Amino acid sequence: MNLAKPDIKPVATDRLPELLRGMPKAELHIHIEGSLEPELIFALASRNGVAIPYASVEELRSAYAFTNLQSFLDIYYAGASVLIKEQDFYDMAWAYFVKAAQNNVAHAELFFDPQTHTARGVSMQTVITGLHRACVDAQTGLGISASLILCFLRHLSEEDAFKTLEQALPFQDKVIGIGLDSGEVGNPPEKFARVFARCRELGFHLVAHAGEEGPPAYVWTALDVLKVERIDHGVQSSKDAALMRRLAKDRIPLTVCPLSNLKLCVFPDLASHNLRQLLEAGLAATINSDDPAYFGGYLNENFTQTFAATQLSARHAYTLARNSFEASFIDAAAKRRHIDRLDERFDAFSA
Ligand code: HPA
Ligand code: ZN
Repeated sequence: MNLAKPDIKPVATDRLPELLRGMPKAELHIHIEGSLEPELIFALASRNGVAIPYASVEELRSAYAFTNLQSFLDIYYAGASVLIKEQDFYDMAWAYFVKAAQNNVAHAELFFDPQTHTARGVSMQTVITGLHRACVDAQTGLGISASLILCFLRHLSEEDAFKTLEQALPFQDKVIGIGLDSGEVGNPPEKFARVFARCRELGFHLVAHAGEEGPPAYVWTALDVLKVERIDHGVQSSKDAALMRRLAKDRIPLTVCPLSNLKLCVFPDLASHNLRQLLEAGLAATINSDDPAYFGGYLNENFTQTFAATQLSARHAYTLARNSFEASFIDAAAKRRHIDRLDERFDAFSA
């Protein structure tokens, strides 16, 4: 790809948040069901006549105290149960795009979990057409380009993933890639070797969550067995020096989600987060929000809180934003346009 911009001028700490918020960026790790705010959960529950076991928005929000990934997933799947109609999926994604525009997100690749919905009798068509319609409107209404990545739930069987793939094939033109999410430990990437091989033959881009809570071995098998192009999270990679060298050498992007890692107790506090270590080892790390309605912040909050806690600089900001475009699944000309705009923003900021 292009050479990195050489002349990033230092920016005073008190002006960094303005630079972070205003710079254009791509978001590559956002579960669209994790953008469902409590207010929208209640509105959709009432619209669809779905009962939820919380009396109020406040009571639901106060249940968002997690100790690990599974404690979050239990509430996250319950929240998604209010999504029934095509318009519900549209409304959820549109609400995210409005926030994304406020965060200067220029491009977004949205994960969705169809098995959470098809298991409740909602059709694949309902899910994909609602989300896709919002992606089209994000481009025309907000100037945000967006695409969809279908994730298999790794706590379910590979056979179930194959069935899900079959149901999605009529909508293949609306799905750019395949991912793997849900409870990681005990569900290694290689459990899905055959279905990922099939997805690869079909021409999908491939990504997988690995090394969020699970060991570096899961990152190795995501790369070498599933042959993914990006690793989602991947923060446990720093425990394996050989893996760190591999990720740096092959410029494998990591979609890191600092506030998620904080809320799910992957790190005890943001100051202990290893993002700086990953960047300084030459890895193509990016910052993302994961499940912003549950983890207390959209993309700009992830940037500003992480920068404040770990004393990252304007140069790191440029690298992270640039990595986000380079790691995305847009074509080379679109990458160039976004990076030119990023460069203009940095030039204007230091002028
Ligand atoms: N990890 C695994 N599965 C998920 C996550 C995550 O961070 N968010 C939503 N589903
Ligand atoms: Zn995730």
